[in-house]
Amino acid sequence: MLVLGLETSCDETGVALYDSERGLLADALFSQIDLHRAYGGVVPELASRDHVKRMLPLIRQTLAEADCVATDIDAIAYTAGPGLVGALLVGASCAQALAFAWDIPALGVHHMEGHLLAPMLEENPPQFPFVALLVSGGHTQLVRVDGIGQYELLGETLDDAAGEAFDKTAKMMGMQYPGGPEISKAAMQGVAGRFVFPRPMTDRPGLEFSFSGLKTSALNTWQQCRNAGDDSEQTRCDIALAFQQAVVETLTIKCKRALKQTGLKSLVIAGGVSANKALRASLESMLGDLRGHVYYARPEFCTDNGAMIAFAGCQRLQVGQKEDLSISVQARWPMEQLSGL
Ligand code: KG4
Ligand code: ZN
Repeated sequence: MLVLGLETSCDETGVALYDSERGLLADALFSQIDLHRAYGGVVPELASRDHVKRMLPLIRQTLAEADCVATDIDAIAYTAGPGLVGALLVGASCAQALAFAWDIPALGVHHMEGHLLAPMLEENPPQFPFVALLVSGGHTQLVRVDGIGQYELLGETLDDAAGEAFDKTAKMMGMQYPGGPEISKAAMQGVAGRFVFPRPMTDRPGLEFSFSGLKTSALNTWQQCRNAGDDSEQTRCDIALAFQQAVVETLTIKCKRALKQTGLKSLVIAGGVSANKALRASLESMLGDLRGHVYYARPEFCTDNGAMIAFAGCQRLQVGQKEDLSISVQARWPMEQLSGL
């Protein structure tokens, strides 16, 4: 089954063709980062307008790269939520219009299920059951995964998501959007030990997270330095390193706890923050000690992309799941509401 996947939940227009027999045939992405940078974050109205502009040319490009024509496509998967409603509606309308014109089924896919399954596009994919750490701009969740659609939420953030904390911390130090890659780059030049930030909620049992206090610690430290006349690049890098270390260690402690609680030894990390090299190294070291394994996607499939939507959609479309032609998207959508296969 050849599935066209469309992703438009935020600031990336992603398109891909995934075939159940041959795997991923082609994928194309247009990132709106340059468009939103001037505003220090995503402007929803601009995001929607840009998705409208990019979608059809990207579909053409993906078909050409895969050496396919429209009539080869068996079904369409699109991101139906969670995300920005205006942006989601672009992908949903486009998917349903093409599905109607081509007389094929369409299916709305959960964005976080897409992220969660993205490591399965790689060689040596994870086997069920496993624990998943979902860390993106909008989510920080630990989930027990027993199969596609069988998700048990173990813990999540009470306030900011990990990616959001990276973005806000970077912004207050005058760094560009998105902050995650900027902080991780700056952290490479940082001096370890000059600043130490708290590891939130690690001193009590449970699998919940909280990152807003950590962001405030970084802000206070930056302001104290500036008040003392030090707003140097080195200080920025030292704060970036201390912040990243605090996030990484906190996530590692909670992942270890989740593995212990479930008795599992496989950990999947997914979402934009899973591209972070320090996080990967820390989790690999922890899983090495436990004789377990950590799985993640290539960096371009950690952040938003069409391939993960085509893949997740294909799994569901193959067992006959599809929708009528109504166009409905959801800004909020708990993953536990999904059905199994
Ligand atoms: O999954 P994603 O592309 O979009 C959402 O679904 O939210 O995640 C974007 C988030 C942003 O907050 C970005 O700063 C963060 O992922 N991110 C990173 C890195 N690359 C992207 N955070 C830390 N280190 C990175 N290398
Ligand atoms: Zn995402």
